[in-house]
Amino acid sequence: MNTIDIEDRLGITFCKRQPIAIERGEGSYVWDEAGNKYLDFTSGWGVTCLGHSHPVITEAICQQARKIIQNPNSGFTYSSSRAKLLSILSKLLPGKLEKLYFANSGAEANDAAIKLARKITGKTKIVSTLGSFHGRTFNTLSVSGGRENTEKYLPALLGNCFVPFSDKQAIRAVIDADTAAVILEPIQGEGGVRIPDSDYINYVAKLCKENAALLIVDEIQTGFCRTGKFFAIEHSGQDIEPDILTMGKGIAGGFPFAAFAVSPQVDAQIKQGDHGGTYCGNPLGCAVATAVIDYLEQQDVAGKVTAAGDLLMGNLQLLCKKYPQLVKSIRGQGLLCALELHNDEMVGELTQSCLEHTLLVTPTRNRVIRLIPSLLVSDLELQEGVELLDSALASVVRNQ
Ligand SMILES: Cc1ncc(COP(=O)(O)O)c(C=O)c1O
Repeated sequence: MNTIDIEDRLGITFCKRQPIAIERGEGSYVWDEAGNKYLDFTSGWGVTCLGHSHPVITEAICQQARKIIQNPNSGFTYSSSRAKLLSILSKLLPGKLEKLYFANSGAEANDAAIKLARKITGKTKIVSTLGSFHGRTFNTLSVSGGRENTEKYLPALLGNCFVPFSDKQAIRAVIDADTAAVILEPIQGEGGVRIPDSDYINYVAKLCKENAALLIVDEIQTGFCRTGKFFAIEHSGQDIEPDILTMGKGIAGGFPFAAFAVSPQVDAQIKQGDHGGTYCGNPLGCAVATAVIDYLEQQDVAGKVTAAGDLLMGNLQLLCKKYPQLVKSIRGQGLLCALELHNDEMVGELTQSCLEHTLLVTPTRNRVIRLIPSLLVSDLELQEGVELLDSALASVVRNQ
């Protein structure tokens, strides 16, 4: 039996799978078991920021694995690997964020942020936005997207409330003295790469302050140079002071790892035993994250992403003009880019056509195909991706 048959028979199918069995990856490319090569513009859901099998990451894994992977009494004892990560990451945090805690996935980091916000404020209401995505644990699902996500698992987390994204009036109408926190992505990723008005996050931060509510900024998809700044809220100016900022995905370039940072005021309210986890801040994950962040910093990857993003968006603009019957609009910041099509059927057809043309892309909600290449993608690879996309679009048009 081959890989696809075994997975279909024995793995629980949560998602419809694409019928390719990936064997290995290098840089912007992956190969399937049959040896076919694909250009990866998904980065494994926006995770493999340095591309596949980057030597900086494999070296960090090997070196740390030879020393120690998991500390005895993990959270109780100190770790030199964790201390290194704390030193390097704390310097990059925006606003007054200062202290860090580590997690194993984005959802886990957001879950902790929601839990701690309720404890710290003594309030229960969490405000989030329609079309958002914050994870699949029960807390995070309850504040993701809209009520349809929790219908299968009712009753949902009590006291949460959704408002349209980037709508100042709507959010002003619901944030009140009962609000524990607002959780917000600087750019909605899973919601279709939706970019808010430039003053939206500042506005929400101000409302939070006025109502003694915490602002939780979810940078799980947008952080670590993905949008051309180290964190995407930096596009909104230097004044924003989130109370909690959550991180994941690119933080360790593919190794499962996440984190959240808190302000001194929030930190002062967190007591021993409020949170924890067996693998949180394990030395292996910390070593990989340190290596990735060090590389992003040393190589000015944020600057390179801005230039690469401009190049990609310029080419997508041409495709938008060439295929108006399929592409409604394009948008993006840095290397988080989207093609909005006219309907969901077209999204399915184009994703399949891209696969047939050896380009991997991510279909996303709201009729969007998301393009999230490695942050180190070369101009030539971008050009190749655009040509493959062009051919894939042409073939969808031919079959219409
Ligand atoms: C903005 C955002 N928050 C949270 C998550 C959940 O992260 P994870 O899948 O690592 O739990 C995601 C995942 O796509 C995300 O995009």
